[in-house]
Amino acid sequence: MNYGARHVAIIMDGNGRWAAARGEPRVVGHRAGLEALRRIVRAAPSLGVEYLSVYAFSTENWKRPAEEVAALMDLLVEYLRSEIDELDREHVRIVFLGDRTALPERCQLEMERAERRTESNSRLVLAIAMNYGGRDEIVRAARSLLRSGVDPESLDEERFASYLDTGGMPDPDLVIRPGGELRLSNFLIWQANYAEIYVTPLYWPEFDGPVLQEALETFARRERRFGGLG
Ligand code: IPE
Ligand code: IPE
Ligand code: MG
Repeated sequence: MNYGARHVAIIMDGNGRWAAARGEPRVVGHRAGLEALRRIVRAAPSLGVEYLSVYAFSTENWKRPAEEVAALMDLLVEYLRSEIDELDREHVRIVFLGDRTALPERCQLEMERAERRTESNSRLVLAIAMNYGGRDEIVRAARSLLRSGVDPESLDEERFASYLDTGGMPDPDLVIRPGGELRLSNFLIWQANYAEIYVTPLYWPEFDGPVLQEALETFARRERRFGGLG
């Protein structure tokens, strides 16, 4: 099935509340969130999705207790190590969004390894946003533009966008937010300017293929006007 959403972006939220509802520590929720990611990556290509961007750790998430931050870093490494063979076999290309220079060395090494190993895959691009913030991304893009000595008069939206972490990727058609919050929390704030938004009260660990399909069916019924008259 193809619902016309080439790029789906997901704010993987609600892990902590999912765990709390079970009387478990938050990290149990993050681990269950990893299982949800596995399910969604498996389901996405057959639903016509070519790019899947997932918000794993924001530039604001450093405010959390050090133990939770460390657990999230460990889970990234664990995900990449345990999943890389299957992802590669399924022709998934892994890329990362965000400022990786602030991440622990062990994360950066695993990230580079995953990118290198999957760089020629083209069935699905999985973009993992790790230490990602939309404003931080825009500032970093502006910095590299200035460094490149770009002629200010030649700068347009397309050129600017090519300096973002998502350079070369289409803009997201659909942003999905589990956990019920009605905000973007600094995710893809440039790229999502005309994305459709789907919010569900389900927590991220409850996500699976049928829920993704339901979101895509809702998307396909929306009328996108892009400021015109439709
Ligand atoms: C999302 O789940 C995971 C990250 C932000 C890293 P949360 O940890 O924010 O879960 P809630 O929102 O507290 O339920
Ligand atoms: C957004 O969730 C970030 C990620 C899912 C990685 P948060 O839980 O950090 O967002 P807020 O704090 O509710 O806006
Ligand atoms: Mg949250």
